[in-house]
Amino acid sequence: MRIDIITVLPEMLSGFVNTSILARAQKKGLAEIYIHDLRDYTKDKHRRVDDYPYGGFAGMVMQCQPIDDCISALKKERDYDEVIFTTPDGETFDQPMANKFSLHQNLIVLCGHYKGIDHRIREHLITKEISIGDYVLTGGEIAAAAIVDSVVRLIPGSISDEQSALSDSFQDSLLSAPVYTRPSNYKGWEVPEILLSGNDAKIKEWEMQQSYERTLKLRPDLLHKD
Ligand code: ADE
Repeated sequence: MRIDIITVLPEMLSGFVNTSILARAQKKGLAEIYIHDLRDYTKDKHRRVDDYPYGGFAGMVMQCQPIDDCISALKKERDYDEVIFTTPDGETFDQPMANKFSLHQNLIVLCGHYKGIDHRIREHLITKEISIGDYVLTGGEIAAAAIVDSVVRLIPGSISDEQSALSDSFQDSLLSAPVYTRPSNYKGWEVPEILLSGNDAKIKEWEMQQSYERTLKLRPDLLHKD
């Protein structure tokens, strides 16, 4: 899978995509992640990529030309499954969306900034507008990082135990059961006895029960989703 991220803050994302699971996935040849500095595509001699909005509104707006040129240059090289734009007024990102994206071959992620981007880009070039929650970030980079991370970790081989991606919270619309590690007694805080019993069937049953109870208590909305 290949992901091209377009941003005005490449330095914010370069450390992120070259660390941990994303670095490993790239080393293993499972993912290629490229960061493109939008300013490299502007025709403005001061490297500006934004301008004042028509209509006298407040804030600055990202202009069509650099975004169009960057996306066009990428599209000339290969076909893309989605051109994603990170924006607080997009569709809320969730696990099924991450699952779907992880099956794609090529993705573009355009990070929003300033007051927004010229709406014509959204109309003509963007295929998916995504928000990571009902709050406003300074820019779309953190949202892009969240999307890329959640997608790449789903590519088989990305994380050491494939099962663990499948048993993630949300993967079956339930939160995960609690997990514990050694020691079994820490300062008198005991690990549930069932987990030490060696009875796999009972442990599985306990895990499902816990998963359901935690979901009911913490995220009852998930139980009514399907
Ligand atoms: N840009 C600013 N806020 C955002 C959000 N909540 N999700 C995606 N992109 C954003």
